[in-house]
Formats: sequence, C-alpha cells, structure tokens
Amino acid sequence: MCGIIGYAGKHNPKDILLGGLKALEYRGYDSSGICLKNEKDIQIIKSIGKIKNLEEKINKTDLIDSYVGIGHTRWATHGEANETNAHPHRCGKVTLVHNGIIENAALLKEKLVKKGIKFKSETDTEVGCALINYYYDGDEVKAINEACSEMEGSYAFGILFDDSNKLYAVRKGSPLIVGVGVKENYIASDINAIINYTNKYILLEEGMIAVIDKDSIKIMKGNKEYNYKVLTADISAESRDKQGYDHYMLKEIMEEPILLGKTLKPYIDDLSLIPDLSDYEEVHIVACGSAMYAGLIGKSLLEEKAGVRVLCDVASEYRYKKIIYDRKTLVILVSQSGETADTIAAMKKAKENGIDTLAIVNVKTSTIARETDRQIFIEAGPEIAVATTKAYLLQVSIFSLLAIKAANDLDCLKEVDKLPGLVKSVLDNRENYRKIAEKIYKENDIFFIGRKIDYAICMEGSLKLKEVSYIHSEAYQAGELKHGTISLIDKGIPVFGIITDDDIKDKTISNIEEVKSRGANIFIVSNNKISEYECIVVPKVSDYFQPLLIVPSLQLIAYETAKLRGCDIDKPKNLAKSVTVE
Ligand code: AGP
Repeated sequence: MCGIIGYAGKHNPKDILLGGLKALEYRGYDSSGICLKNEKDIQIIKSIGKIKNLEEKINKTDLIDSYVGIGHTRWATHGEANETNAHPHRCGKVTLVHNGIIENAALLKEKLVKKGIKFKSETDTEVGCALINYYYDGDEVKAINEACSEMEGSYAFGILFDDSNKLYAVRKGSPLIVGVGVKENYIASDINAIINYTNKYILLEEGMIAVIDKDSIKIMKGNKEYNYKVLTADISAESRDKQGYDHYMLKEIMEEPILLGKTLKPYIDDLSLIPDLSDYEEVHIVACGSAMYAGLIGKSLLEEKAGVRVLCDVASEYRYKKIIYDRKTLVILVSQSGETADTIAAMKKAKENGIDTLAIVNVKTSTIARETDRQIFIEAGPEIAVATTKAYLLQVSIFSLLAIKAANDLDCLKEVDKLPGLVKSVLDNRENYRKIAEKIYKENDIFFIGRKIDYAICMEGSLKLKEVSYIHSEAYQAGELKHGTISLIDKGIPVFGIITDDDIKDKTISNIEEVKSRGANIFIVSNNKISEYECIVVPKVSDYFQPLLIVPSLQLIAYETAKLRGCDIDKPKNLAKSVTVE
C-alpha cells in the first residue's frame, strides 16, 4: 500500500524523507519519489523499483537547499508503475502525494480537461492535484476544502503550495498522522515512518486538515481550528529492528511464544475481559486474507465446541452481499492493521444496521480499533513482514478463548501456561522444516488438504507458502479433492495433509491414500505420529489450542522454501501490508 512521509524542520528534508520511505517499504510499493522546496524553488525526483534506485538518483542530483518536503512509495492502482505515474505529482502551484483511490477521478478529469487542463499521467492522484490547484486562489485551506468536497473515495494527501512555506495534509478513509518534534514536524501514513525521529503524534481524523511548519501545527476542520491531542506511540525503534534475524518474517515467527503468553495472560487473569457470546444468537466473523483464515478457525471452534451459529465471510463480499440481520448478531472484525478498506466497510455496514461490533485487532490507534464498539487487542507489536505470522497466530489464540468461554470449558485454560513452551518446541524443529523445504522448493504446484478445522489451517498454510515463495498452492477440503481437482495430482506433486481432529483422522488418511496412489509426495503435519508418511508431529493439546501448534510449522516451511528460492521474503512482489484501498 502507498506510503506518505512529509517533513518541515531544521534538518535536511532529503535524509528524513528517505529514512521514512525506507521504513515504509514494508507496506509494499513499486515506485517512489520526493519533493524538496524552499521559498523560490521546488525539486521533484522520482524512480521506479526499490528505494535504493531513488536514493542513487538523489545522490546524483544537485539538490536545492530546502526546509520542507514530501515523499511517497506508490503501490499502483491507476496506471502502471513508471516514473510519470510515480508521486509526487505537480499541477500549477500545487505538488502532492496521495494514498487511496479517488473513485470519481474520471468524471473530475473530464471536467478539468474541458477547462483546458492538461494531464501527463494515468493516475487519479494527478486529478486530485489539478482540482486543488483549480480552486487555489491564494487560500490553501479553502482550496483543499473545496477540492476535497468534490472527491469521492479515499485519500490521504501531503501537499505543498508554491506560495506557502508550510506543509499541508488532509485525509478521508486513508490513515495519516502528524508527527510532533522540536523545531521540526512530520506527516506520515503510519508511525513506523517517523518512530526513529519522534514517538509523539497526532491522529488526523476524517476531513481534518493539518497546516504545519517547523514551529507550529494547526489542525483545521472546515475553516475552524481544532484542539488536538498529542499521543505517544508505544512502540520502540528497536522493535523495528531485525535483531540479528535474516528477515523480519523469521524474527516475527520466533517472537510467537513470548507474544502468545503476553496476549493471553490478561484474559486468563480476568476472563470477564472476553465478551460473553451468550447474549447473541449469531456471530459474523468478517475479515480479509489471513485474518479471515483465523476467523475460519474461530468459526470451527465456536460451532463445534460451543454450538454458536457463525457466518464467516471475506469482507470484500460481505460489504456488498445482502446480509440478513434477523437474529441478535455480533459482528467480529479481525484485522492486524485495522485499516483494511474492505474490513472497515464491513464494520460500517454492521454499524449502519445497528449491529454490535467487536474488533480483534493489533494496531490500537487504527480506524477499526477506534470505531468498533468493543476491542480485543492482540499484543503482536509492529508486524513489519508483509506476510503476517505472529499477528495471525495471536488472532487465532483470541478465538480459542472466545470458544472456551462460550462453551464454559474453563478447565482447558490450565493449558495456557504451557503453550508458549510448546510453540517454542515446534519452532525449534527447524531442521525438519528445512529438509521439507529442500524437497518442495522447486515445485510449481503444492496442495494442502484437511477436514473441518484442519481445512481452515490449510487455508493459511497454503496462503503463507504462496505469498513468500511464489509457488502456486491450493488448500482443499480433503473429502472434496476427488470431485475434480484430483485431476491435477500427478507423480511427485507435494500434498500436505493436516490431521489433528481424531474423530475424522481416518477419513483424511484415506484421502491421503487416494492422492498417494496417484503419485503425490505426501507430507503430514499432525498431533499424532502417522507412521506410513513423512510426518511432522506437534504436541497434542486440547482442540481449542491445537491450531496454535500446527501453524508455526507451516509458517517455517513457507519461510525456508522462500529462502531457498531467493525470494524477497519480507516484501513479496505485488503485496501490501495493509490494503487500504478496495
Ligand atoms: C497476510 O499474510 C496477508 N498479507 C493479507 O492476507 C492480510 O492478512 C490481509 O490483507 C488482512 O490484513 P489486516 O489483518 O491488516 O486487515
């Protein structure tokens, strides 16, 4: 997802902007650029590909002296990844960077072209820039308000005006914060961009405009000044450091034992902190990607163990489907970033229908954290690798507690103390995962099969492998494979069988037999030793917590496979850490 950084202050903006853009790389991007400004000059430098390309270009450029600047990493939505489409964009006296999608950009462009305005790029961003410039008559806040009132969709803008020494920012639907320094101030898409410079920040709320220079910050709502609160980020710069690991993904997987204990402890000490689902007749679990696969595990546990009626759906579908709210319903939104556009839309749909909302979320200051009725925070800390691991595992652990409470199966909580050690024992088995990775990393197609909760685990195991190794993979209900997809099974095709549910273990094993008899190369991950096959065995715990011991092994298999393939593990191609657009 696009990343924004802006700076006004005593230091050289170029260094701050580049440092911020590097800290935003984890969000995913395909081009980048900066703009530097002083009283009379403005300088824009852009590049496609990695930040190091931009840095090389900047280092070869004779830079103007400047005191204010903006920077951007672009994740292409409108128009391919090239320098023309890269940000910052400039039109007339306005230069800006943008995160989000201006959904009525085509209509606005048509209107502006009729007024003689020429466009260079294919982007909606340039349209936004031209519209602000169109309304600009010397009053910057008025121009921003008038242009934004015509834009539909989502935006976070960092804006410079030729005639002003200040930095402007405005947001609607895409997050933006103002960083507070001493004789210097910032704007950023998220705190990670500026945590090395300041941990003090202001959350820019919907429709608010920030007017910034090195000595002052003014927050406007319409034309009125707004009293803002300065918050302190609870993350440290070192938590962003790889701490000796080759990749953030590996570091974050290795953090899982400690974070599991940290996340669960407050709720074990006081189970009243876990919502009582008995007030509801139905639960909807809505999320995207891995967060949704955590929800699938939640659905299985809540239904199987507590008899709770659960609908689990991807947010991009749920937000547009006809949802029948004819029972007392709780909508649970699962999100690491708390800024995923589709999940936010699903949250808004529930709220518009008067439905209670609960967030299982990591980023405490995010939109979903701020706008849901109730929150359960996972203590994952900053998750830098684009492919989620620790946050997903902690989301699953919250569903374990929700199901235990709903089933009133409180005895199972005795297992919690030993879970961190058991997860660590699974992670310590790395040599076995490396051996498996060596057998599969040259493959083109890999399958994961399981039944019931094991199928939900397969969904995440398959996604993790795809995301970081770029190997095509599919998760399939074990009993369903023979209804078509088994035609793809051929000699040597790796098939992972996930088997933890004793009640249907034999059924899944017979499905394994079916694919083995067609030449598949079988790998089993189970809480039982299944002797006929190469098998990763994890410790057996109650059904509520069993997924927490299977998943880390699949995460490490994905990691080791991607490493053997030399992939960009922390920043996989085309992926964004938080998908803040539809
Ligand atoms: C996870 O590895 C993926 N990068 C992606 O599926 C992610 O889980 C999804 O985009 C949801 O993000 P969120 O948890 O921040 O809402």
